[in-house]
Amino acid sequence: MGCSDSDYAYLRQLVFTQSANRIDRSRNALFETRLTPIARMAGVSDLKDLVSILRDDPAPQLRHAVAEAMTINETSFFRDGKPFDVLRDTILPDLIQRNFTQRRLRIWSAASSTGQEAYSLAMLFCEHFPQIGNWDIKIIGTDISRHVIDYAQRGRYRRLEVNRGLPARMLVKYLVRDVDEWEVTPKLRALCSFQYANLCAPLPKLPIFDLILLRNVLLYFSPQDRSGVFSDVYRLSTPGGYLMLGAAEQAEDSTDLFQSEFAKDCYFYRPTPSPSAISELL
Ligand SMILES: C[S@@+](CC[C@H](N)C(=O)[O-])C[C@H]1O[C@@H](n2cnc3c(N)ncnc32)[C@H](O)[C@@H]1O
Repeated sequence: MGCSDSDYAYLRQLVFTQSANRIDRSRNALFETRLTPIARMAGVSDLKDLVSILRDDPAPQLRHAVAEAMTINETSFFRDGKPFDVLRDTILPDLIQRNFTQRRLRIWSAASSTGQEAYSLAMLFCEHFPQIGNWDIKIIGTDISRHVIDYAQRGRYRRLEVNRGLPARMLVKYLVRDVDEWEVTPKLRALCSFQYANLCAPLPKLPIFDLILLRNVLLYFSPQDRSGVFSDVYRLSTPGGYLMLGAAEQAEDSTDLFQSEFAKDCYFYRPTPSPSAISELL
């Protein structure tokens, strides 16, 4: 017997509670594909039995595994192209100029998935800004899925992954082929680190960032969770910092803590110093 409507409603609520991700009713089939391996690991053959176990099991591990399995981890090197042009031509030169005395930059790839976004940024630094090669630069990737964090830390990508968005010249310069995988070079690895963080729960200790990439994750959150995330991102931004969202995402509906700017066919955001933004935080 398959899952009942109430089983699906239970799973939707579980995922929402664990990760703040909203799964639409029309995507019930996704539960079947994503959760069947977890059902097997739990010793049952179908989703309905997995739901029965979940309903009776107070331990958090299985719930975490379910929420993690339902995350959408789609990503690629230099995803969407244009944001990386703006980073190269506008944002990074400005950040480098303003941090010239400090010689230090902190960058957050929030919801980093398997790490291609963080490593793409590292490639931009190595390729276009060799003059800051001895600066203290840290690109920190965080995600709610431990599986993708491990993947990012491993820094090894399959042919299909390196064929998406990564120019051949950059591939051979910044990744090394090992049988049928490509591994990021120690130079890129030294710039990037990855750790667990749920954007909709209290965050781990993180530095104040000069640049935050929060791309293609807000769309899974409720309006309330989105504005909570913007408050945290604002707190973790330097006053002159930058925020980049995904191509289909915008801040205006959820917060007045950031103001948009436009360059090279691409919107990005800066923290607003306005009194209303400050009162929103109090
Ligand atoms: C579609 S990927 C986007 C990856 C990358 N930022 C990009 O634009 O290519 C969304 C990522 O958000 C993560 N995610 C979903 N909910 C999250 C949450 N509450 N906290 C942190 N990460 C979350 C997922 O695990 C997934 O890896």
